[in-house]
Amino acid sequence: MRDVAIVGVSQTKFGELWDSSFRDLISEAGIKAIVDADMDGDDIEAMYVGNMSSGLFVEQEHIAPLIADHVGLNPIPATRVEAACASGGLALRQGIMAVASGFHDVVISAGVEKMTDVVDATPAIATASDQEWEANQGATFPSLYAMIAKRHMYQYGTTREQLAQFSVVNHKNASKNPNAQFPFETTVDKVINSTMVADPLTLLDCSPVSDGAAAVIMVPAEDAKKYTDTPIYVRASAQASGTMALHDRKDITTIESTKVASKKAYDMAGVSVKDIDLTEVHDCFSINGLLAVEDLGFAEKGKGGIAIEEGQTEIDGDFPINTSGGLKARGHPLGATGIAQAAEVVWQLRGEAGKRQVEGAELGMTHNIGGTGGTAAVHIFGRDLN
Ligand code: COA
Repeated sequence: MRDVAIVGVSQTKFGELWDSSFRDLISEAGIKAIVDADMDGDDIEAMYVGNMSSGLFVEQEHIAPLIADHVGLNPIPATRVEAACASGGLALRQGIMAVASGFHDVVISAGVEKMTDVVDATPAIATASDQEWEANQGATFPSLYAMIAKRHMYQYGTTREQLAQFSVVNHKNASKNPNAQFPFETTVDKVINSTMVADPLTLLDCSPVSDGAAAVIMVPAEDAKKYTDTPIYVRASAQASGTMALHDRKDITTIESTKVASKKAYDMAGVSVKDIDLTEVHDCFSINGLLAVEDLGFAEKGKGGIAIEEGQTEIDGDFPINTSGGLKARGHPLGATGIAQAAEVVWQLRGEAGKRQVEGAELGMTHNIGGTGGTAAVHIFGRDLN
């Protein structure tokens, strides 16, 4: 396998973007990544696009050639990748594998979702759960994650305040991110007292419904310096699957696919969790951020809440989490999220993250999951190849 480097990244603003269509968003992300890589659009040999549900959100399927056509990349192979909220993470992985295998030399992996054009996004998002056993019985993602939160509180004594603190840190970081959907700061009290969504999760524990896109351009490591002085290297790309429905799990307070994928990623990169300088985790709800802190190995099972309460996940803490503001406050346009996470890590490793910079960051990780963990993708990136 060849080593792979990232030479261009981009993210559109995330939010409720009435003035941008689905194709506007993905074109903007693609063009910005090409400019960032200082290359010509004609250099790109293949495209992967992560997208969960353009059919339900904007009534458009067959989006990969549509995008290639719109941005003038025809006739390159253009492929859509779907894995619910992990669609972006898997599009990234497909691009990495295409370059690593030698199939292509210059690949763009992008992600896009335009969610706010429908009156109610909840039923569309719920199709990423087990339709027969969960969605058809009335379960939605807020309610599924609320059950996980309740169980975690019962089993380990995790407090409501600890969950809320995860959102507080995300919002603080988002206030330093010009691309964030909700760049305002908040407090534990405000989180707990915001509108109830699914007990114990309130509005400010939830990621929002978002529009947005992001893109990443990859080349073989040996070619990277042709495009940039600061290539960022892919040190690991790992993926695992888990049960779709919560009732099939031995313990709903652990996301096994995260544990399996992260172990594979640490082994592939030859590093341990202690070596990671910053991580973008999949916090679609505050409880899921807390689970990631535990399942990725930053804290022991049951102790994630304490680590968050102690400030260990803050930008100047022991293991900074979601410097971008995370899904909660940067926003969560489903298919774009895994790619936006990679863009944030690349900006951090290049030293370009402005007020949210983690000083001296050398290794960064992304964690992107689909549904309640049916899919998990974990990537590790470094300033150096080894
Ligand atoms: N955080 C902070 N503020 C939010 C928010 C969020 N997650 N979601 C909406 N808001 C704000 C809106 O900006 C709006 O503010 P305004 O009145 O000042 O304009 C207000 O809250 C009401 O917005 P609205 O769009 O009517 O909210 P809603 O009640 O329809 O939706 C949720 C709120 C939490 C139910 C919705 O965002 C949601 O379903 N989130 C989860 C998405 C999801 O499941 N993703 C996949 C995970 S696996």
